[in-house]
Amino acid sequence: MRNYTPPKKLLKIGESATMKAAEKARELRAKGVNVISLDVGEPDFPTPKPIIEAAYRALNEGLTKYSQSQGLPELREAIADNLRKIFGVDYLPNEIVVTAGAKMGVFYALTALLDEGDEVIIPTPAWPSYFDITKFVGGVPVEVRSGEDFELLPDRIDKAVTEKTRAILLNYPNNPTGMIYDKKVLENVAEIVKRKELWVVSDEIYCRLVYDGEFIPFSKIEEMRDRTITINGFSKTYSMTGWRLGYICGPKNVIKEILKVQQQTATHPPTFIQKAAITALYECESYVRNMVNEFKIRRNLFYDGLRRMGFKIKKPQGAFYIFPNAMDVYSEAENFSEHLLEKVAVSTTPGEGFGKGYEKHFRISYATSREKIEKAILKMEEFLKR
Ligand SMILES: Cc1ncc(COP(=O)(O)O)c(C=O)c1O
Repeated sequence: MRNYTPPKKLLKIGESATMKAAEKARELRAKGVNVISLDVGEPDFPTPKPIIEAAYRALNEGLTKYSQSQGLPELREAIADNLRKIFGVDYLPNEIVVTAGAKMGVFYALTALLDEGDEVIIPTPAWPSYFDITKFVGGVPVEVRSGEDFELLPDRIDKAVTEKTRAILLNYPNNPTGMIYDKKVLENVAEIVKRKELWVVSDEIYCRLVYDGEFIPFSKIEEMRDRTITINGFSKTYSMTGWRLGYICGPKNVIKEILKVQQQTATHPPTFIQKAAITALYECESYVRNMVNEFKIRRNLFYDGLRRMGFKIKKPQGAFYIFPNAMDVYSEAENFSEHLLEKVAVSTTPGEGFGKGYEKHFRISYATSREKIEKAILKMEEFLKR
């Protein structure tokens, strides 16, 4: 094989930390070990039948060709309708770009915002891809640690702003903590955004998976609509992770630039998949409600189990993650995830990828059956008794 040196922009980024954890579990499984997976960030529910049928219909109707780069007009209409009905947020179809997943949305938004060396404030713990995508597009991630109970601390964010800060990247319900932020805190962030003339990229992919408290879209905070680029998608709400469909909402001038990035890369997400997503928005509300009810039961189950084991964690309010500190119960906290997998075949995600200072935490995804959750809790208890 010829010698190959990757370009500098690729040396700055790594493999997906969450996928790496799942890979280790896969290797063990291949050796015949019965691993319980609490690592993957996707609902274990099948994609609702009406969406699958709509995709078949769309294929048979010939929706197999190029279409509008911004996304099918009728899908953007449906997204706008859905946001209005559910959250009272008003976006016009031409303020929306349909993307191949929310991750692509983050990439487009940061590409459209950042010049080389611009800083992005990322409250941590945070989804690891934010750091890599920021670096990949030439930006500099600036980590701002949240409080002990993972509460957002606007004062710390304020202090982290420099001449080079361009944006704050928010994500709530949060991956990995499950926390959402209340109106007062969001208003405090908004005050900084206004005073320092920043942008907000608000990743609201878990907006429908809320069990306690109220989710408030950041664009609804006073005067924030024109400063916010919202990322959202179908992966989590409709259990459509493999379909690769998301969207961005934002002010028209930014959307225009984002659209250029999509036109010169993906062109648009597959046409028939976009058509099927209209069915998700209009006909699958009962599926979403059932899934949310089930996740709430599982959250309680796992949370109670963790408290019994001695973890001091606060109850997460949304998404399907819990991010405990292994120090509460285990002396070799940094190796907790690894030891748990080796000794009792329970796979979680180590905390190190979620930000500096979270090496002693680990992420649990409870997007798995109650039966598996009960088994996992028993195994964790057994592991801690050894
Ligand atoms: C916070 C967050 N944003 C975005 C994504 C990616 O979503 P999508 O599958 O739509 O690319 C994930 C997936 O885990 C996530 O946790």
